Amino acid sequence: MLKMEGVCKSFGGLQALKQVSFEVEEGRIHGIIGPNGSGKTTMFNCITGMLPLTDGEIFFKDDKISEMAADKIANLGIRRTFQAGKLVPSLTVMENVMCGISHFGKADLLDTFFRLPFAKSKIENALEAEAMEILESIGMADSADRWAADLVWAERQFVQIVRAMVSKPKILLLDEPASGMGPKETEMVGELILKIKSMGITVLVVSHDMKMLMNVTDYVTVLNFGAKIFEGTPDAVQKDPLVLEAYLGAE
Ligand SMILES: Nc1ncnc2c1ncn2[C@@H]1O[C@H](COP(=O)(O)OP(=O)(O)OP(=O)(O)O)[C@@H](O)[C@H]1O
Ligand SMILES: [Mg+2]
Repeated sequence: MLKMEGVCKSFGGLQALKQVSFEVEEGRIHGIIGPNGSGKTTMFNCITGMLPLTDGEIFFKDDKISEMAADKIANLGIRRTFQAGKLVPSLTVMENVMCGISHFGKADLLDTFFRLPFAKSKIENALEAEAMEILESIGMADSADRWAADLVWAERQFVQIVRAMVSKPKILLLDEPASGMGPKETEMVGELILKIKSMGITVLVVSHDMKMLMNVTDYVTVLNFGAKIFEGTPDAVQKDPLVLEAYLGAE
C-alpha cells in the first residue's frame, strides 16, 4: 500500500535517512522502532510531503507521492499525528475532533442554503456520533464539551488520535502516540490502535513503548542511524541480535 524505495534524506552533512526501503501492507499495523534520532519522524515528514526527499521514491498504491504537495498527499487518505500534537485550545474536544473532517463532512451547498447556519449535515451528525463512541471507549465521553485548553497531556494526545480516526484516512501515521503516558494510558493507546485497524484503516506507528508496540503490530521495521537494520514480525524483531544491541539492549 505504501512503499519506500531507497529513501534518503540529508540535513546538510547529516544523513537522517540512508537508502531506506520497506513496504506497509494494507490492513496491517506496521511499527517503526529505533533509538532517538534514528530518523523515524523524518520518515513521517517525508511520507506526508512536509520534507522533500534527497533521493529515492515513495509510492502510495499506484501514485508516486514523493514529489507531491502535502495537501494532495493528505487528500489521498494519508493522515498523521504529531509527537507533540496541538489542538485548538479555544475549541471544545468535540469541535477539535470535528475539525479533522472539515474537507468532506460539512453540509453541502444545498444543505447550507435551506438550513439554518448552525444546522449540521447528516454526515456531520453521523461522524459526531462515531466520534462520541470512540471517546466513550477511552473514557472521555464526558470530556466532549470541555475546552481543549483544560486537557492534560495524555488527553490531548488521545484527542489528536480520535481526530485523525474520524477523518477516515486510508492509512494513519502515529508518531509516538503513547509518549508521556503512564502504563494504563499506554495500554489504552494500544487498544485504540487495534480499533483503528478494525475500522479498516492501515496503521504505521512509531513508539518507544516496546511492550505496547510488540503487542499490537503485525510487522516491524527497525531503524538505526537512519538505516534500516531489520524488519520482520514482532517475535523475530525481539530475537534479532542486531536489534537487541542497537535498541532493546539500550532500554
Ligand atoms: N528539520 C531538521 N533539520 C536538521 N536536522 C534534522 C531535522 N529534523 C531532524 N533532524 C535530525 O535528523 C535526525 C533524525 O531525527 P528524527 O527526528 O527523524 O529522529 P527520531 O527517530 O524521530 O527520534 P526521536 O525518537 O527522538 O523522536 C536527528 O539527528 C535530527 O537531529
Ligand atoms: Mg521522532
